[in-house]
Parts: sequence; structure tokens; C-alpha cells
Amino acid sequence: MNTAPIGIFDSGIGGTSIWKEIHAMLPNESTIYLADSKYAPYGEKTQKEILDLSVKNTEFLLSKGCKLIVVACNTATTNAIDYLREHYKVPFIGIEPAIKPAALNSKTGVVGVLATRGTLTSSLFTKTSALYAKDRKVIEQFGDGLVPLIENGQIESPEMDALLDRYLSPMIKANIDYLVLGCTHYPYLIPKLKKMLPESVSIIDSGLAVAKQTKTVLEKYSLLNLTSEKKSHLFYSNREVHVLKSLMNDYTDIADFSFLEF
Ligand code: DGL
Repeated sequence: MNTAPIGIFDSGIGGTSIWKEIHAMLPNESTIYLADSKYAPYGEKTQKEILDLSVKNTEFLLSKGCKLIVVACNTATTNAIDYLREHYKVPFIGIEPAIKPAALNSKTGVVGVLATRGTLTSSLFTKTSALYAKDRKVIEQFGDGLVPLIENGQIESPEMDALLDRYLSPMIKANIDYLVLGCTHYPYLIPKLKKMLPESVSIIDSGLAVAKQTKTVLEKYSLLNLTSEKKSHLFYSNREVHVLKSLMNDYTDIADFSFLEF
């Protein structure tokens, strides 16, 4: 039993899509969310830079007493989680593009993966794709430019429409029936993606699976919070917090959004 918070970090606001799944599945847990938005996007950085930023974020969350850390960023997971697990004692939960269910269930034999450059070029993604999708055609698309637009609150913008049109058109032409979202920012694009994709295309992201895994690991290490005390949810960002706040409007139990020089 452990009342300490779960720590969650992302390169920015995208990991809030994971926070929402965790909040729904584990209502008895306190959380601390860290948006490293000043350094977004991670997807266009080197592996060494992504690793250093992931270490910095981990140390911040550990300094706040977190009992488990969710790396709510595909780019940080695929480039840094092995290092984090080796160097810190707390359990880490990561997120990777859900290529396995897409490859298994595809009827057309063609699946699309939209993810950052850093994720798609990582050795972890290459290995997973080779393992589960070797007899499938996988159309990998770097989502360059999408994260900065989401960070700036520009989901509804001509720039976003133009980028998505460019990225999705080759996939639609190739007859994909699954689109894997390999970046935690992208679930915020789902309403838009649904309008742009044929109805026959299913969109998959890994948010729910991450929440389930978080629960399993908390149970395994006897870390669940079993008290009935009030839970606390704190959000930190090193950029101005208004876009972050706007995504979390429905959650009146968030105690505070703090700007952090970090
Ligand atoms: N949310 C991060 C991910 O899942 C975005 C990466 C970025 O900052 O480029 O990959």
C-alpha cells in the first residue's frame, strides 16, 4: 500500500491523453504530471538529447516522491526507457505504437503508422515492427510539424489540415484498414482524422493499454493506494499553461497547474 503519487511525463501536453485513461482506471491514485513543453518536440531530437531530457524529467518526478513513473511519450519510451529502468529503482511504464493488434487484425494487409521521426527510427520500434508485422505492408509516416501545432493550440488550423492531408493521402491510396497513432499528442486529432479517413479505417492508440499496465504493475508491487483520503492531482509545465489547462477543463479535481522554470 502506498499513497505516493504516480508520476507522468511527456515532451508536452500529449501525455494528458494517457493521464485521462489512468485517472479513469485508477481513481484512487494521486498523480503528478510534467509537461516538458519548452523542449518539445522530442521527435526531432537525437537519441542522446531525448535520453538527457527523460533523465531530467524522471529526477524531477522522483524529487516529488513519485512511486512509479509513466513515460507518456512514445519517443521517450522507445529511446530511453531501457536506460531509465536500469538506473532508477521505481517501476517505469512506457508506451509504444500498437503495431501488434493492427498487424494481427488487418484484412487488407496494409497498416499505417503515424509517429514521430524519433519513434519510427528507434531500434525498439524497428524490432517490434519486424516481429509482429513482417508479413504486412507497413506505411510509416513521420508526423513532422504536428506536435508543435498541438502544443500551440492549433488543432483547428489550415496548417494542420494541410499536414494531415499530406500524411494520410498515401495511406488511403494504399488501402490501409488500421491507422496506428504512435504519439500521445495524436489522440487529440482523432475527431479530425475520422473525418479525413474512410469509415473502413480503424484508429488505434495505446492509452488504455498503458492504464491497464499501470494498474497491473501497481498491484504486482503492492503500490496501490487503498486509503480513502482525498487524492491530489498536480500539473507542471515549463511553458505557459493555458493550452494544457484547456485540455483539462472537465477535470475539476486538478488542484493546480504550475509554471516551472525547468
Ligand atoms: N507525445 C510525444 C510522443 O508520444 C511527442 C513527441 C514529440 O515531442 O515529438 O512521441
